[in-house]
Amino acid sequence: MAQTDLLTDSLTLLSERAGDVTGLVYARLFAAYPELEDLFLMDTDGGVRGSMLSQAFECLMDLAEGPGTMAETVIRSERVNHDTYDVPAGMFEVFFDIIRDVTKEVAGSDWSPLMEAAWASVLADASRLSQPLPA
Ligand code: HEM
Repeated sequence: MAQTDLLTDSLTLLSERAGDVTGLVYARLFAAYPELEDLFLMDTDGGVRGSMLSQAFECLMDLAEGPGTMAETVIRSERVNHDTYDVPAGMFEVFFDIIRDVTKEVAGSDWSPLMEAAWASVLADASRLSQPLPA
C-alpha cells in the first residue's frame, strides 16, 4: 500500500476514534516540555493551537503524497517564524513525533508495521525540512 494510503488510513482511525485531538496533542507536548505552555498564553480561544496542528497534519499528508513541495515551503518558513516566538531548535521534530505517537496509541491493535514504516519515512522528511538551512 502506498505511503499516502497508510497515512490516510491511520489518520482516519484517529479522527473516527478520537475526534478533535488538539487537546490530546498539546497535553502531551506540555507534559514533556512544560516551559512551552506559556508561549500560548495569548491564544485564549485555542485558535492558534488548532490551526498550527492542522497545518502540521497537512504537511505530513503532503509529504506522504509526494513530492512535498507545500510541506517544504510551510515547514521551512514556519521554522524561521518560530525562531521569533522563541521555539527552541528541535521542537518541530518533537511536535511531529507526538502526532505520530497519539495516532499510534489511538489506532491500538489496528496499527500495522506498514503504517509504522510509512510514518517513519514521513517523519524523517519532516525532520530534514525542520533543520536550519546552512547560512
Ligand atoms: C513544539 C513545536 C512548536 C511550538 C512550541 C510552536 C509554537 C507556536 C506559537 C507560540 C505560535 C503562536 C505565535 C504567535 O502568534 O505569537 C505558533 C503559531 C503557528 N505555528 Fe507553531 N509551534 C511548533 C511547531 C509548529 C509546526 C511543526 C508547524 C507547522 C508545520 C507550526 C505552524 C504554526 C503556524 C501556521 C502558526 C500560526 C497559526 C495561526 O496564527 O493561525 N508550528 N506556533
